[in-house]
Amino acid sequence: MRHVIDTEEFTLDQLQEIFISAEALQTENSQPLKGKILASLFFEPSTRTRFSFESAMHRLGGQVISSENAREFSSAAKGETLEDTIKVVNHYADIIVLRHPEVGAAKCAVSAASVPIINAGDGGGQHPTQALLDAFTIGKEMGMVSGLRIALIGDLKHSRTIRSLAYILALYPNVEVLLVSPQELTLGEDVLRYLCARNVVHTITEDFEYAVASADVVYQNRIQKERFSDPSAYERVKDRFVLTLAHTERMLPHAIIMNPLPRTCEIAPEVDASPRARYFVQAKYGVWVRMALLKMLLA
Ligand code: NCD
Repeated sequence: MRHVIDTEEFTLDQLQEIFISAEALQTENSQPLKGKILASLFFEPSTRTRFSFESAMHRLGGQVISSENAREFSSAAKGETLEDTIKVVNHYADIIVLRHPEVGAAKCAVSAASVPIINAGDGGGQHPTQALLDAFTIGKEMGMVSGLRIALIGDLKHSRTIRSLAYILALYPNVEVLLVSPQELTLGEDVLRYLCARNVVHTITEDFEYAVASADVVYQNRIQKERFSDPSAYERVKDRFVLTLAHTERMLPHAIIMNPLPRTCEIAPEVDASPRARYFVQAKYGVWVRMALLKMLLA
């Protein structure tokens, strides 16, 4: 694997390899990426993805150059194309982590790149490294991914993390997916076709209460405000599915709650104290998984 653009590219064997490496890297004190430079080029806001990639690179002995607001502070503001920016940054770094508002931007960057490109989110397209850390979290916290019923809840139309995770979940045997969203925000046809082609049992529903009470993993994601052209359409759906402490009492005994974060109103803050809440540990695991990926691509 040279670039990480979409989750359809991964096999179960590759995931296992990355996850074993992520576990080992927690305690390993070697510096396999000494002398290597990572460029993080972010045209959209980020907290976890950028910081965890940069932290991962530092922990592996590498160095980082970064544009956290490339839309305003890179030459994109002067009208430079993404391809030209990549052709230049190529020479300054050994790997580029790119977040961009346009679907397909990472693929487009690959066409101009001579170093590996990691897609850190392309608009409402994909966010493959988030999906990897999500699958890692499910495996670590539940002991397995296969055989689980996983409720993906929220703005399934625009959530790149959910789109990427759906492809990953389809790799595991006997996973069942509940796709819970307002009717106007259902999962894209492309992903649905993929789930059908792989015979993944899935249900499209607006029944939040049923999903929460019956799933092993409740994966919440915010309604993606920035992807709406009509603010009133966002207002109509923004707090449709809010998980409260009362819900946690109706969940299966072993069920856990995840969220790629940031959280807006879809999980009440008091849920954080519940032992089911795994979204902060999920963010922590992001560093290990990204360390494993960087090592795989660069070492
Ligand atoms: C996600 C993203 O940027 O798509 N955030 C993240 O990387 N953890 C999820 C989101 O913004 O809702």
